[in-house]
Amino acid sequence: MHQFHYKDQNLHCEAVDLAAVARLYGTPTYVYSATTMAENLARLRQGFAGLDLQVCYAVKANGNLAVLRHFSNLGTGFDVVSGGEIRRVIAAGGHLHTSVFAGVGKTEDEIRLALENEIFAFHVESEPELGRINHVAGRLGVIAPVALRINPDVDAGSHAKISTGGSGHKFGLPLRLATAAAEAMGKLKHVRLRGVQLHLGSQQTSVDPLIGAVTKVAPVAAELKRTHAIEYFSIGGGMGIAYHDALASGRAEWWHTQPPGKRPASPEEYGAALVPLLAPLGLRIMIEPGRLLTGNAGVLLARVEHFKRGAGKNFLVIDAGMNDLVRPAMYDSHHEIVPLQRDTTRPALVADVVGPVCETADCFARARRLQEQGEGELLAILSAGAYGFAMAGRYNSRPLPAEVLVQGSSFELVNARESFEQQVANEKIPAFLQ
Ligand SMILES: Cc1ncc(COP(=O)(O)O)c(C=O)c1O
Repeated sequence: MHQFHYKDQNLHCEAVDLAAVARLYGTPTYVYSATTMAENLARLRQGFAGLDLQVCYAVKANGNLAVLRHFSNLGTGFDVVSGGEIRRVIAAGGHLHTSVFAGVGKTEDEIRLALENEIFAFHVESEPELGRINHVAGRLGVIAPVALRINPDVDAGSHAKISTGGSGHKFGLPLRLATAAAEAMGKLKHVRLRGVQLHLGSQQTSVDPLIGAVTKVAPVAAELKRTHAIEYFSIGGGMGIAYHDALASGRAEWWHTQPPGKRPASPEEYGAALVPLLAPLGLRIMIEPGRLLTGNAGVLLARVEHFKRGAGKNFLVIDAGMNDLVRPAMYDSHHEIVPLQRDTTRPALVADVVGPVCETADCFARARRLQEQGEGELLAILSAGAYGFAMAGRYNSRPLPAEVLVQGSSFELVNARESFEQQVANEKIPAFLQ
């Protein structure tokens, strides 16, 4: 469910007319719905009711400081993967003592930063990493809390580039080595085993892979509870959202009328399947959702530059490009594109919706049917709240887009469009060229 809907044929985010946002702040601009994020979180918590649940929002999905503050106010911790993300959480007023630090290549500096800020746990991906954490903690004279990330060798059933739980992926320790790694920790004086973790991959649409993975790892969690008194089991993130039919998926009826398989599993279905497997462990259960909380809570506003007739196909050229939203170019992912002002009397056009970047990959949709669009008219690319701005870049020297947060009838710019001066601030012409 989400808070994007047409009111009097004008697309609104909550009570805010998106055309007004575009007029004020220009395009391309990301707009996020704070209420949608809060509702997504509440639904997830409700789905897993009955467990001692710790939600750690995955900062990588959308790390805007306002978004992080919002989740912190709602009582989540964070799943971070870099020193930059740690600093973002702190800058937003979030807490590290309820947050976890994941990633296969944590540097000594990042480990120190996490320890100095009392991280809840490191999610450890290898034995050398365990040694490094032990070493840094020893230098600081502290004990580092860690959880072993276990690679359960289960196919997430998702896109190959965002699957992480197979034996051929770089993530986690093989299941058969987990107990040995826990034993080996006995020799390390500055680490303490606090939990186990798994993460299968992103944009999972069926509950089955996670059931399989939890079934495999739960006996190890139970054993480590007995032998090492671990406190928690994190089942990672990865719950998918509806990219097709995105506007309709905002309404509760849609979830009831679409059969499972035609839509992603809902938080309620995840909970119903997993709570009976997890509750008997008597451990705190952690979840690290990113996309599920922010994905359908954001859109990217864009303006039409031209309608271009090509040989055998037409192109709708818009002012957002693959640098602003790379998912379609990177993963061939689908995003719905809708006009900000709906006019059902207009004829339709069929076109590839493309950006201005000098790459053929700079294409948001192929042969998409839309209402006829003229130069200067406004569009919204839906379901862009996760892995949108977070993956944006400056290719073609385009500025990073603006970000706006909406709540009810209030909205505020939470990240101004980058200026040219900001873009080149760290560059210089060396003396030998002057
Ligand atoms: C360890 C870990 N946890 C959580 C997430 C969040 O995934 P998602 O945004 O699909 O929920 C990721 C993303 O890849 C991850 O690697």
